[in-house]
Order: sequence, then structure tokens, then C-alpha cells
Amino acid sequence: MKAIVYDEFGSPDVLRLEDVARPVPKPKEILIKVRASSVNFGDLMARSFRSVTPRGFNMPFLFWLIAKMSMGWRKPRIRVLGNEFAGEVTAVGRDVKRFKPGDRVFGHAGQRFGAYAEDMCLSEKAPVAHKPAHLSYEEAAVIPYGALMAVSLLRRVKLLPGQRILINGASGGIGAAAVQIAKHLGADVTGVCGGARLDYVRALGADRAIDHAAQDFTENGETYDVIFDVLGLTPFSRGRHSLEPRGILLYASFKGRHLLTMLWTSLARGRRAVCAIAPGGLEDLLAVKEMVEAGKIRAIVDKHFPLEQAAEAHRYVETGQRRGSVAIIM
Ligand SMILES: NC(=O)c1ccc[n+]([C@@H]2O[C@H](COP(=O)([O-])OP(=O)(O)OC[C@H]3O[C@@H](n4cnc5c(N)ncnc54)[C@H](OP(=O)(O)O)[C@@H]3O)[C@@H](O)[C@H]2O)c1
Repeated sequence: MKAIVYDEFGSPDVLRLEDVARPVPKPKEILIKVRASSVNFGDLMARSFRSVTPRGFNMPFLFWLIAKMSMGWRKPRIRVLGNEFAGEVTAVGRDVKRFKPGDRVFGHAGQRFGAYAEDMCLSEKAPVAHKPAHLSYEEAAVIPYGALMAVSLLRRVKLLPGQRILINGASGGIGAAAVQIAKHLGADVTGVCGGARLDYVRALGADRAIDHAAQDFTENGETYDVIFDVLGLTPFSRGRHSLEPRGILLYASFKGRHLLTMLWTSLARGRRAVCAIAPGGLEDLLAVKEMVEAGKIRAIVDKHFPLEQAAEAHRYVETGQRRGSVAIIM
């Protein structure tokens, strides 16, 4: 089968098309004919992991070490990228109960990757579910990563209707889903993103959008019940002034110092920092599927590229021009 492989870390040039062996499903696995995948934060990070230092990694050192061991020290351990996908089940292992050949599915392979290929195998217990019928494969493929992370992370703050939330990083994979989910929960949403993506963030449902280059949201006098900082760019010492008295600064990316802040702010009533990891499991994907079917989460595909042009797709994402998701189609 055809797959996009890479044997060294680096720029998009390391991605190339190759014929590789078609995987065979184990007893509890399904074989999926991939119809579409995407280019997201995880693909870019894994492709260039050699140059990602512990300092440049947006998580504590231990997480970097674990990621380094799973991605490979000098050379990639996983040759095929692509962590979210949509496609069709073509064969199932003998113990599989949830799927049968012919089922249309979408899901998130996470750190296993493997979706930049014509076929991939995945455990039936992985976050994979029947594809919402009204979505094309391309649309379904760009939803799982961001929506799974956003659903899992927002659960940590129990957002209520009418509450005010600011999402810092609203135009990215996680942020774009978080804007839509927060709106669906009835919150008043402010999105922070680059100037080129203000309209995109408003189109996702944000009540207002702030250009991070033009305005520092911590200095505009506004306050929020929740600040969701996707990249962990706002130190608590600064962000706390933009929080309501019982407000929460939720970090999707954090270092040891954020964890210490979480510890000491948890000891008293008042403004708190919360560092959260998204399990992003099957249960969350089923919640995402329901929201998609109810029209509460939409897929906005900015551009798509055929599999052979995966390197071009990576280059395009790295220009920072995209307004929406970038899909790779088979
Ligand atoms: N906690 C968890 O379980 C978990 C899981 C997955 C990922 N993560 C973390 O989430 C992050 C990736 O998120 P993602 O996939 O959404 O990334 P992404 O798609 O690359 O989006 C990044 C977003 O950050 C925005 N941004 C860039 N510079 C900014 C600035 N100075 N101020 C405000 N916003 C800025 C970008 O906006 P513009 O492009 O419009 O400027 C974009 O909206 C990583 O740090 C990763 O470690 C955490």
C-alpha cells in the first residue's frame, strides 16, 4: 500500500511516498481503509522532534522524555504520521465486537499515528466511532484531535451557561473546538488569535476576537470566569487579574512552575490555576460525535491535499496562513 513515511526528523522535505506492507489486524483490531487525515500540531511536532528541546516543549521535562522515547531519539520510531482520520472498516480481528466491514468510522490514533497511509490498524477500544453521516470523510477527519482534547479539558472547569470564558489560542486545533463547545454550553466566548484569523474565530461562534499581537488581554480590564490558555502563555501572576474572584486559569500546556501554582492556589478559596491532561478516550469521542450530529461542532476545512502532497500540506500549515483545518485525502 502507499504511505507517507519519514526516516529522519526535520522539515517537510523528510516526508516521502513509499510502498509499505499492508498491516494485518490482530484479534482485537480493525483494519481501516483511510479516506482522509489531517495536519495538526501532533504531526508537526513528531516530524521535527529532534529539534524540540525540553525547554521548547510545552510540557514538563518528564513528558518530553516520554515523548522522546516514544518518537525516537535520533531517528523516528514511527515511520507513518497522521493521528486523526476517517475511513471505512475493511476487515476485523476475530474478537472485534463494535465494528464490521463496511462501517464508516472516524477517530484519533494519538501517539500511534499511522493515518498517512492507505490502510491502518487500530484496536477497537481506541477512540474510533461511527462517522457522523452528514460529514464527508474529509470533514470527519479533521474533527477528532481538537474536539477530543477540548471536550476532555473543558470538563475540568464545569463551564455554566452565561459564564464568560476567554480562549487563548482560539484559532488552533484545540481552541477552535473549544470555542464551539463553550458556545454550545451557553457561555460568552472571547477568542484570542492572530490578526489573520479574527474572522475565522468569530465564524466559529466567538462573541468577540482579540488579536494577540495588537492587544494584551490581561491589560484590557475585562474579567472572565475561565481563561483557557492552550499554549500556556499566560503566567498566573498576570492572568489572575483577568479572572473573576472564583475564576480558573486552565492550562492545556504547562511546566513545573504551573503545577506549583496549581498546588498553592488549590489550598485557598479564590482564583485558581488548573493544569490538565486530556485522556481523549473513546467515551470522549462518543460525546464529540453526539455534538457533531447535533450541529454543535462543525468542521471547517481550509484546504485539502492529496496524500502524495503531504509535504506540501505540512509546508502550508507552517506558513501560518490557514483559516481552518488542513486535510490530507487519499
Ligand atoms: N493537555 C493536554 O492533554 C494536551 C493535549 C494535546 C496538546 N496539548 C498542547 O496543546 C498545544 C497545541 O494546541 P493546538 O493543537 O491547538 O495547537 P495549534 O493548532 O498549533 O494552535 C496554536 C494556537 O495558538 C495561537 N497562538 C500562537 N501564538 C500565540 C500567542 N502569542 N498568543 C495567543 N495565541 C497564540 C495560534 O494562533 P494564530 O496562529 O492565529 O496566531 C493558534 O490558535 C501544545 O502546546 C500541546 O502541548 C495539550
